[in-house]
Amino acid sequence: GRVLLAYSGGLDTSCILAWLLEQGYEVVCFMADVGQEEDFEAARKKALGVGALKFHLEDMKREFVEQLIYPAVQANAIYEGVYLLGTSLARPVIARGMISVAEKEGCELTQPSYVSHGCTGKGNDQVRFELAFYGLKPSIKVIAPWRIPEFYTRFAGRSALLAYAAEKRIPVVQTASKPWSTDENLFHISYEAGILEDPNVTPPADMWKLTTDPLHAPDAPERLTIEFKTGLPVKVATEGGKTYTDSVEIFVALNTLARKHGVGRIDIVENRFIGVKSRGCYESPAATILRRAHMDLEGLTLDRNVRALRDQFVTVQLSNILYNGYFFSPEREFVTSCLPASQRTVNGTVRLALYKGNVIVEGRFSDESQKLYDEKESSMDELGGFEPTDTSGFIRIESIRLRKWGAANIQKGQA
Ligand code: ARG
Ligand code: SIN
Repeated sequence: GRVLLAYSGGLDTSCILAWLLEQGYEVVCFMADVGQEEDFEAARKKALGVGALKFHLEDMKREFVEQLIYPAVQANAIYEGVYLLGTSLARPVIARGMISVAEKEGCELTQPSYVSHGCTGKGNDQVRFELAFYGLKPSIKVIAPWRIPEFYTRFAGRSALLAYAAEKRIPVVQTASKPWSTDENLFHISYEAGILEDPNVTPPADMWKLTTDPLHAPDAPERLTIEFKTGLPVKVATEGGKTYTDSVEIFVALNTLARKHGVGRIDIVENRFIGVKSRGCYESPAATILRRAHMDLEGLTLDRNVRALRDQFVTVQLSNILYNGYFFSPEREFVTSCLPASQRTVNGTVRLALYKGNVIVEGRFSDESQKLYDEKESSMDELGGFEPTDTSGFIRIESIRLRKWGAANIQKGQA
């Protein structure tokens, strides 16, 4: 059979590539450019050198931003109150890229067609990739070497992988090995495992790769304006007079600004879908700015009850769906179908300052506010059509239940 392997260029997936070849498969390697800093040319050479039939690099940045990141921004998606879901968001895009390349490269030629990945048997990513594969192409067969006893017993430990790499003439780049593992894309970088497994170990200062240490960030705040239409950023204007309107460029520009000012560092002990706790550190620069700005604009432009329902339902459910790997599912379709109705009025601009790790909202403006926010009505200095006596009745009615509850408590106390 023919296998499409999610290839990273690292030691693990290079050994998986060699092992699949050894098992008699033809292997095509797949890499998605989702904005990670990577030497794609070196990865191509390496894959072909080990014996891959072909190497596919797909630029999926726009799809990543517009189809995954944007709905997450509209929903204020967040997992367990802290994690902004950067890895979870990239997986569906990568899986979709893989299935379309697998169809081009495999199905017509060999049956069945296979995909393979190097995810460990303990993580979220294996679940996300495989649920996505099956949702997109139910007939696909998945080879997950880290769950095949023959593979994981043979390659238990890094030294076995290194010995195998030497035997198969797989070049091992001697980078100063970092005592943690990372996953990077346009949205974030994650750090897990190694020394971070002790939740009480403070991440070393040189771990953080994307953002300036807030302590060493510029002493002067930097200002910017973000314009939203239906809850999506459509224009970013910087203090330096630059403007961005393209979705990918907006995201890149916000990343650059946030990185410089140390915005977006996260450290959390989270609950993986399979029930294991895991400590993770993340840098999500642009995403942190966008979430803050979007939520602020909603304060001005979104109806109170729509907002409350969205917070309880869409935000929570979509975040769990994304985290657990159910992007290609009927429930995800259902939940995201609520987004347009919730974001219709989220139009306007937010003015922000970035300063030493902080995103400070300095003001917001919206034409919608003329419909929802009435300065005269909200003012403490004038009545603006408000009848204070109405409120007496409102409080009297609202207190009926509470008076009964209070009276019962008093009675209980006397008994
Ligand atoms: N814990 C995060 C998540 O589940 C990050 C996972 C990082 N994945 C990786 N293969 N390094 O989304
Ligand atoms: C992995 O298994 O590749 C890393 C951890 C995770 O997916 O949660």
